Amino acid sequence: MCGIVGYIGARQAQPILYNCLAKLEYRGYDSCGIAISNENLSIYKDTLNINELAKIVPILQGTTGIGHSRWATCGEPSICNAHPHYDCTGKFAVVHNGIIHNYEILKKQLIAEGHHFISSVDTEVIPHLIEKYYKGNLEEALEEALHNIVGSYAIATITSGENKLVAARKDSPLIIGVGESERFVASDVMAMLDYTNRIVHLEENEIGIITDSNVKIKHKGSYIQRKEHKIEWNSNATGKMGFEHYMLKEIYEQPRIIGDTLKTDYRNIKQIVSSQVVKDKEIAPLLILACGSSYHAGLVGKYIFEMTLGISVRVEFASEFNYYGHIPTKTRAIVITQSGETADTLKAVRKLRQAGCYVLAITNVIGSSVTHIASETIYTHAGCEISVAATKSFIAELAVLYRIAMLCADKRLEIADILAGAKQIADKGRGILDETDGIKELGEYLAGYNTVFYIGRGINYPIALEGALKLKEISYIHAEGYAAGEMKHGPFALLSPVTPVVAIVARDNTYEAMINNIREVKTRKVPVIALMEEDDDVVRGIADFVINIPCVNPIFSPMVNVVALQLLAYYAARKRGCAIDFPRNLAKSVTVE
Ligand code: G6P
Repeated sequence: MCGIVGYIGARQAQPILYNCLAKLEYRGYDSCGIAISNENLSIYKDTLNINELAKIVPILQGTTGIGHSRWATCGEPSICNAHPHYDCTGKFAVVHNGIIHNYEILKKQLIAEGHHFISSVDTEVIPHLIEKYYKGNLEEALEEALHNIVGSYAIATITSGENKLVAARKDSPLIIGVGESERFVASDVMAMLDYTNRIVHLEENEIGIITDSNVKIKHKGSYIQRKEHKIEWNSNATGKMGFEHYMLKEIYEQPRIIGDTLKTDYRNIKQIVSSQVVKDKEIAPLLILACGSSYHAGLVGKYIFEMTLGISVRVEFASEFNYYGHIPTKTRAIVITQSGETADTLKAVRKLRQAGCYVLAITNVIGSSVTHIASETIYTHAGCEISVAATKSFIAELAVLYRIAMLCADKRLEIADILAGAKQIADKGRGILDETDGIKELGEYLAGYNTVFYIGRGINYPIALEGALKLKEISYIHAEGYAAGEMKHGPFALLSPVTPVVAIVARDNTYEAMINNIREVKTRKVPVIALMEEDDDVVRGIADFVINIPCVNPIFSPMVNVVALQLLAYYAARKRGCAIDFPRNLAKSVTVE
């Protein structure tokens, strides 16, 4: 979604801003713009991509600037609605992520006071408020402006009158990067990795006053000290490494990620989980909250924890949880969010924390917003994921959930031995990636259809949901994931020879029922692709096509099955010529409700 970048330093700002914005392209956007401060402000914006914008903008002199890539939520994509926004005098430029709930009231007041507006978006009130309050000091004017604003924001602003960048945040991420004689701001660390990996986090309700050699942080009128820290990711992580798409590269990284996560010495994890997550298991079920693919990981987590830790688990979409009031006594929760920035998930965490609940966050992004508001955080080690469709971050979330179960399951039980088998899963996943010809052919075959059903049972039901989600996200084929037993309660009406079914068969207690479901589907002359263990001749005999999956203990089958389904979706989308890494209308990080 929308991206903010800013630069102040010894170098010309314009090319650096373009490069920083380009690093955020993966988040999705429909317009972009930059503002450079010199004696005057120069502001250019359009409904173009960054490369195209760079071609039409003249060379601008100036070593301080801000930039923005916008993904329209309030006001259509247009030049006027694109950021940076500016005031009547053209002295103040602002880029903003978030939503200003009371902007209509503020706009009316400002218009009555003589301000002239040119866009239909909420952000435009900010430069006008700054203009109104400016008395020679940008941070004071912004502070005053923020007193009027109700909503969420990450803001970066510059003025032609002072050589500084001023930033502020509330409920929307913003970080400051530290280089030699230069400083950066960005809504996502990816933007600045070509220049620095030293960062300073701006926390809730703080204002950052940034010059080329200094960062000052102000909270409620007082200056506070904040240490910088180094992050592990580097800009190499953002290359395709010879793969045609980021998604494919990220799929191929998964065996390493599974291996690394299962080996990670998660300090205190056992203590955290047994003292917080497993405790009170008789009183309230453990609550898992997430959105999108992370929600599907949470559903797999339910099966893992219920089977191995003997606790009951309730899994909910964070976006739904936020709209009903009841939180049972002694609720403890796990939230899963790759980005750590999903607005609905953050809102759910705040709601739980306000109710006094313990919340453990699982996230991939160090220092992301969720880490500031959860009780504790466990990081996945997937590295930076660029492709909008989650693949390696999903597998990393699963791996952490298995790791929690491995560390906390009672060592005396047989389950501990089973979990120890997890260590081979990385090799099994690699096995699928070594032999992709068959999956490629089937993906290309699916590309010719308009509707595909995915069915699974038990721990592979969420994998049916995830497989269908991957296909629809990147190939635009209508796909639905179903618990196989539910097909008869409606979806059967849609089955025909032009609605293929992808059936996930695991050799667990759901095996016989799945075979029956495949037979039922076959009576409607539906083409069936079965994911089955490579030595399963029964399934081979009844399915039209098969994808051979290495034999693993069924509890781990989600980790191998999902790799095959990601590839299936990838090859279907590739055959259809889709923009695999940046699907239309979708964003990597959904920072609005
Ligand atoms: C967006 C992404 C999905 C992701 C979901 C939740 O919709 O496109 O890939 O699963 O957000 O994101 P999170 O960062 O909270 O895991």
